Amino acid sequence: MQRRIPPATRPPRRRPHRAVVLLLAPLLTLSSAAFTDVAKAVPTTAPAVPAAVPYLNPRLPVEQRVDDLIRRMTLDEKIGQMTQAERAAVADAPTRITDWYLGSILSGGGSTPTPNTAAAWVSMVNTFQRNALNTRLKIPMIYGVDAVHGHGNLLGATVFPHNIGLGSTRDPGLVKRVYAATAAETRASGVPWNFAPCICVTRDERWGRSYESFGEDPRLVTEMTTAIDGLQGDDPSRPDRVLATAKHYAGDGDTEYGTGEGDFTIDQGITVTSRADFARINLAPFVAAIRKHGVGTVMPSFSSVDWTEDGVGNPVKMHASRELITGELKGRMRFDGFVISDWEGIHQIPDPSVPAGAPRPTAAQVRISVNAGIDMFMEPNTAPQFQQLLKAEVTAGRVSQARIDDAVRRILRTKFRMGLFERPYAPADRIDVIGSAAHRKLARDAVARSQVLLKNSGKALPLRKNARIYVAGRNADNIGNQAGGWTIDWQGRSGDAIPGTTILEGIREVAPQARVTYSADASAPMTNSDVGVVVVGETPYAEGFGDVGGPIWQTGTPEQREPKLLTLQPGDRAVVEKVCGAVGTCVVLLVSGRPQVVTDQLGSMDALVASWLPGSEGAGVADVLFGQRRFTGRLPVSWPRSVDAVPVNVGDATYRPLFPYGWGLRT
Ligand code: GLC
Repeated sequence: MQRRIPPATRPPRRRPHRAVVLLLAPLLTLSSAAFTDVAKAVPTTAPAVPAAVPYLNPRLPVEQRVDDLIRRMTLDEKIGQMTQAERAAVADAPTRITDWYLGSILSGGGSTPTPNTAAAWVSMVNTFQRNALNTRLKIPMIYGVDAVHGHGNLLGATVFPHNIGLGSTRDPGLVKRVYAATAAETRASGVPWNFAPCICVTRDERWGRSYESFGEDPRLVTEMTTAIDGLQGDDPSRPDRVLATAKHYAGDGDTEYGTGEGDFTIDQGITVTSRADFARINLAPFVAAIRKHGVGTVMPSFSSVDWTEDGVGNPVKMHASRELITGELKGRMRFDGFVISDWEGIHQIPDPSVPAGAPRPTAAQVRISVNAGIDMFMEPNTAPQFQQLLKAEVTAGRVSQARIDDAVRRILRTKFRMGLFERPYAPADRIDVIGSAAHRKLARDAVARSQVLLKNSGKALPLRKNARIYVAGRNADNIGNQAGGWTIDWQGRSGDAIPGTTILEGIREVAPQARVTYSADASAPMTNSDVGVVVVGETPYAEGFGDVGGPIWQTGTPEQREPKLLTLQPGDRAVVEKVCGAVGTCVVLLVSGRPQVVTDQLGSMDALVASWLPGSEGAGVADVLFGQRRFTGRLPVSWPRSVDAVPVNVGDATYRPLFPYGWGLRT
């Protein structure tokens, strides 16, 4: 089944086209009516539950409250708790939340209230919550977003370096502080659940999600699971903490190139490995996330795993793997939180019993994924269908009541622990922490510490503050490019997308005495310049749309439409060649989510810096350029010598990167 049609002819996946939702609405309403009809057992007008009942008593132990509540629930109410819909499917008709007994709602990337302000977020979440509490048992819903480098969906939030940059700092304490600030800003906007951190281990930089990883070494990624402590703290019910999600379980960054799902080349592909290597590389961070940091939720990967010892050729989707979700995660690792599926993740489970184009999800996909151990289902636009199918599977005895009760227990336990029954509504009194000076200062510090100095011949760096500086390159003054994906839009957005400072603005701020000439395409005269600073690299992308050789947008912006490469885009190469060929000293900064193969131009560069995706505080880059801060960053991934040398990872039998894992010069 073609999971994704080329983006040319479809609206962005994250924001279902309003017309599409409106077209579906009658079906959904019909389905929900059908679903409600089937729920005759519990008329929604049944008497409210007296407030004195045990599950509403916060002084009782959580397990006792869970026992009491689950005893009272009908099958429809239980299945409702297992269902998560997208904001756009209920925003125009929030009573669907009540009708469908929804346990959760999410904002996909770029799915925001209008206006996109903190106050509007708080109001939106509370409106949804009011409808959730309008059910017989008044079970609060939990709202989730992807705040993967700060609350990137919210305009005005602090946007921190993506994980690849944080991995370069080698500082778990800093990562914890960054994610604690993210938690404070996310919860202040009314959202108590963050689908983060990604504790994926990126093993092939052709993967469009490499930048969401802390690095290629599972030990480094494991160290950085302190992000979970930052998000949850020791009490996730606090008004400045959120529920975290360890994702994507597991092997998402270790798939084989060429096995990608649909039109992706590697994203959502197949991890071909032994159980021993899978445990060592892909599972290790999850063991820490659960045993050391007590992560509240886990999200399976879209990818599949194919065991070499069983004879390759039998890939199993992670969303269908009972061995790895129930056996490994909930059994051996003793995970007691809940498992949330990825976006329509169960729709990818092979189902030969239906024609390729049959509506998703199918009965088999629901059955297989529930029985594999998934507890809550991210069904952005097919919530009623999912509910009807699951009810039919339970009624037919193909999904046990015990499995349903296990899923609901886990969800309720988490909601009690989150304090949502006592404080279901978001206060609006913490909004001023969003984008605060303190958080921006922390982000600027993280940016400075994430910079990796790869080459510095002739002591080109640090720059003199009174130098005549010629700044060029399309990423020098483009805050959207320096923020990357998951920023305002799912795919990110080039240009003046968010408040903050670009690298050029940082240069001007840190060195006001410098005589700065800026020319993005290096068309301005370069004479009398002491040093050239060329800032090039990638433009924003997310998921498989960032895969090297991946799908090409036929619509969208020119940046979205450029083919994703591991080398510099032709225009960038030309600017590097022009400036480094004309100015005596040439410093190149790469703003990208992954290494860029620049071997053939390295000789013309006096200095080379991996800036990664710094986010809103580009001035942090200037801090190290001018020596206000020392370069301390170290590579979290091996830097390939050529495109055909990828994948290259520390520990490979033959290991000849251009710059090795851990490389980083000091100033
Ligand atoms: C996406 C991503 C996942 C994200 C989810 C909700 O497809 O794979 O990381 O949390 O959908 O946006």
